[in-house]
This record gives sequence, C-alpha cells and structure tokens, in this order.
Amino acid sequence: MSKKTVLTGITTTGTPHIGNYLGAIKPAIEASENPAFNSYFFLADFHALIKCQEPERVARSTREIAATWLALGLDTDKATFYRQTDIPEITELTWILTCQTSKGLMNRAHAYKAAVDANREAGKEDLDDGVTMGLFNYPILMAADILMFNADIIPVGKDQIQHIEMARDIAGRFNHNFEPLFTLPEAQVDEETQLIPGLDGRKMSKSYNNTIPLFCSSDELRKLINQIVTDTREPGEPKDPDNTLMHLYRCFASETESAAMRQRFIEGIGWGDAKKELFEFIDAQLTAPRARYNELMNDMGAVEAILDKGAERAREYSAPFLDKVRHAVGIRRLTDTSASQQKADVKEKEKSAEEIARAEEGRRRAILMQIRPLLDQVEQADDKAAAAQALVAQKTAEVESLKKKARQKAQNELDLLTEELAALL
Ligand code: TRP
Repeated sequence: MSKKTVLTGITTTGTPHIGNYLGAIKPAIEASENPAFNSYFFLADFHALIKCQEPERVARSTREIAATWLALGLDTDKATFYRQTDIPEITELTWILTCQTSKGLMNRAHAYKAAVDANREAGKEDLDDGVTMGLFNYPILMAADILMFNADIIPVGKDQIQHIEMARDIAGRFNHNFEPLFTLPEAQVDEETQLIPGLDGRKMSKSYNNTIPLFCSSDELRKLINQIVTDTREPGEPKDPDNTLMHLYRCFASETESAAMRQRFIEGIGWGDAKKELFEFIDAQLTAPRARYNELMNDMGAVEAILDKGAERAREYSAPFLDKVRHAVGIRRLTDTSASQQKADVKEKEKSAEEIARAEEGRRRAILMQIRPLLDQVEQADDKAAAAQALVAQKTAEVESLKKKARQKAQNELDLLTEELAALL
C-alpha cells in the first residue's frame, strides 16, 4: 500500500492560542512523526485575504504561525511545511477547478449562506452586500490546496467538513470529465480535541474573545489563568471536578496526573490554589518552546529559509502534477499532439480496482451534483413521496424520448436519482 497523504492549512489571520495548539497543531505534529503518512502543512495566506484586509496583521500572523509550528518541534524533514503563496501551481489549479465548479454548489457553501442570511435579517435589499468573490470562491481555493497534492486525509474542525465534501465533488467532476487524476479527500475530525475550554468555559475561540495565547509571557499566562471563571465555593468545600480548570489541566497532563488533580477538587482545593497549580503546570511545559519561539521570532531569515525549502519540496510534486492536469484539460505546447496517444495508453493499461472505483465514484459525484437541485425540491415538498413519483415519471418520459447516446446518459442520471430518492424517503 502506498503512503497516505495528510494535509492541512492554517489561515494566517490570528495569533496561535492554546486551543489551536491542543486541537490542531499538537495532533498534526504527532501525526507527522508517523512514517505511515506523508504530511503537508501550510500557511494559508491567500485564505487570510478573504477575511482580513489588514496587511500588517496578515504578515504578522504568518510570522507567528510559522515560528509556532517550528518552536513546537515540527520536523521539516518529515513534514513538508510551506506557504501557500509560494506554490504558484495552486493558484493555477484554482482557475482550472473554478471552470469545473457549478455556481449552484458554491451557493450552498455555509460561509456564503451565512453572509446572505445576515443581509436578509438586516433587511438589506442586496443579499450579496459585502460578499466578495474571494468569499464566494473560497471553497475552490481550498479544493485546489487539497487536490494539488492528492491528499487523502484532511484534519479539520467541524466547520470545514462541507469544504472537504465540496473538494470531493469538484475532484469527481474533473475525474469524470477529463482523466481520473485526483484523489477524493476525506475530512478527519477529532471530536475529543474540539473541546478545549476558554477563559469563560465556552470553547476557546477568537470569536468568543476567551483565548489564552500560546506563547504569551509567564506573567500574562498567570494573569489570564486567574481570570478563568469559577463558582463561589470556598476553599475546603468540595468542588465539581468537571470544571474549566480541570478540563484545561487534563489537556496537558497524563492520566495519573489528571486523576490526582480530580481528587483534589473533590477534597476541596481552593480555586486560587487550583489556578496556581494549573499555571505552574502549563508554564513548565511551555517554557522551552516559548524560548525557542522567541528566538525564531527574532530570526525570521532562518524561518524564511525553512519555508523556502518546504516550497521547493512541495513544488517537486505540484509542478509535474499540474503539467498533467493542464494537459488533461487541453492546455498544451503547440507542438504537443499527444492527446490521442495518452488516451490510448490509459485504455491499454489494465486499470487497477482502485482506479476503477475512483472513476466510478467520480462519475456518481458528477451526476449527483447535477441532480442535487431536484433532490432538494423533493425534500422541500409537502408530500415527498408524491413529488418523488412525479419527478421519476417526468424523467422516465424524458429518457424515453431521447436518442441512443443521450438516452444512456439520461438513464444513468435517472438510476442514480431513483437510488437517492429511495434513500431520502
Ligand atoms: N479554511 C481552513 C480554515 O479556515 C484553512 C485551510 C485552507 C485549509 N486551505 C485548507 C484546511 C486546506 C485544510 C485543507 O480552517
């Protein structure tokens, strides 16, 4: 079996906090130590432009995120670590994929729909008010990030699952229309690590303004931990061990250490003492990487050199692969007349079961994308069964009126439609 490729991007708009570290960075770095995987991690700086028009902030965040991953011990001999904008092939692929993506698919993207909903609620006449084409096309750029390296596994937060599904749809359509060049990626969501509590006990997130920056100074770390919201129980009173301090502690501690801390809450440790313990425990673990981080932040030349090396490595894959993609869609040297040749080659080769399955999956996805609006209609109908019946009858009549070749195509569509409707009802 060939190695699976794991790939994830980090949008460069913020300063890494403890939630990012525990939820994304730490598991990614650990996975990159596993020789069963090829890892690609990148700074998604083109994505940053979608939501942030503050150049200094984008630039600073890019420096901070690069230094953070390196300070935490990412081994760039094992993982390919690069900046999205250093790989021109990604932008080129974005256009090619844009031409394979139906606008209807993008209309359904959560981020875009949320913007439209907000405009509707605000009573705006223009529902697209404030929506840039960057926001609208966001999922295609993300698909290009992923498909460029034929990544299999994409570790992401829940909010990103839809984007991975869209990347699959887009890849399927390309594979169906041209050559089966793209791997269909899968999202990997780690439920457990999603729940890192912030200062107020809700999920740690920039949008709640409850974060603890990963590499703030010891003093600031102490101050922030002291702000964590607790109840009013006095020292000596037993406390519910299911509290924010304990949750954070557990994220950094071993099972035995956690069990001991739990016991102390039950025995009534004061909140002040518990905060002090938590601070000391986290601070001890962050001291070494923090020092390394500060060193790197003062030596951006070294970080830049590491990213350059990463980009070079990434392009060893992306440049020749993009050549194949360009060729597949017909962008070729004038002297290159190898089209039929290539097709014949593909046919002659015994296709592996995996390739056949991939092509089949692509075909299904391409058709599904076309019939999605019909399925949505049925789903929204008051009498779903009747709507489904009417639809199938109408489509059957259409199929029967067609000529041979078009008929086969329509029949395929009808088969899949019937299948999907059966699942839906
Ligand atoms: N959009 C992702 C986020 O906001 C970041 C990202 C960009 C990404 N490109 C990607 C994640 C490709 C995974 C794969 O979290």
